[in-house]
Amino acid sequence: MITEITAQELDVNQFIEEKIEEIRGAVGGDTAINALSGGVDSSTVTMLGHRALGDRLRTVFVENGIMREGEAAQVVGFFKKLGVTVEVVDARKEFFGALEGIVDPEQKREAITQTFYKQVFGRIVRDSGAKCLLQGTILTDVDETVAGIKRQHNVFEQLGIDPQQAFGYRILEPLIQLRKDGVRKLGKALGLPEALFDRIPFPGPALAARVVGAVTQERIETVRKATAIVEGFLKDSGAFQYMAILHEDRVTGMRDGKREFGLQIEVRCWESVDARTASPTRLSFDVLEAMAGEITGKVPGVVSVTYNIASKPPSTLEVV
Ligand code: XMP
Repeated sequence: MITEITAQELDVNQFIEEKIEEIRGAVGGDTAINALSGGVDSSTVTMLGHRALGDRLRTVFVENGIMREGEAAQVVGFFKKLGVTVEVVDARKEFFGALEGIVDPEQKREAITQTFYKQVFGRIVRDSGAKCLLQGTILTDVDETVAGIKRQHNVFEQLGIDPQQAFGYRILEPLIQLRKDGVRKLGKALGLPEALFDRIPFPGPALAARVVGAVTQERIETVRKATAIVEGFLKDSGAFQYMAILHEDRVTGMRDGKREFGLQIEVRCWESVDARTASPTRLSFDVLEAMAGEITGKVPGVVSVTYNIASKPPSTLEVV
């Protein structure tokens, strides 16, 4: 049983002290690897880990080919300013290879999990001699996985999986008692700039969580372009999270006077505090229309844009 610490209860200074001790105790005289995606959770864990271990922590950003536009360079740049060196590991071939031919959402998540932990981190850990991986799993990830809603990419122990046996290293999860609002409070206290601790959440399975059906390089490129447009329009909306989704359905459209059996993008924008429940943001129709115009105008092959108006539950935030 994991005891939750709510954002209100969280005494950041005491929490930081305790976790630094725990991390130092667990790693001992060894080195550790830390998985950074640039999201709020992994950014916070990176800062905490560096306070605890300094140079004995190697921070790795996995370029899996399913991240957002310019993400690797942006994350490396952010952390350089914070004095943290981030190593980018190119694993694009491995991820696209693992995702080939998979359309089922849970199988997609499983393929990503295995590629991250068994292949990519397995290799990095073996090559570096590190004994543990430090990562930013939070309580919401555990809840949804245990409840059988979604297999979050970063949850093992609660499913009876021993990472030591499965992958050959231990996993430390210092944020596991917190939810998103608590992590933001902690990240701020650890010196993350607002651009990082207030970043909208982004899932571990990345853009693959936003492609219904086959995940190919071409389909990822479509959702990546649409995502950049949606994020550009909604960055000042104050919403909890917003995203573009590529559907499998094709719909008849027209371009240059000709029929085009084209692609369909769904836009979602959520109001939420901790991602457990959420409702759609009441965006103005002017914003929605302008966004649709830009998506159909700039993303090749897209002829239709829809806006989600369902809440969680029964929806979930991501589509996969
Ligand atoms: P759902 O789609 O389950 O998402 O309503 C709730 C929140 O969790 C994020 N999410 C993930 N985060 N690994 C993560 O680290 C995952 O596998 C994962 N799946 C969803 C999602 O973006 C939302 O903020």
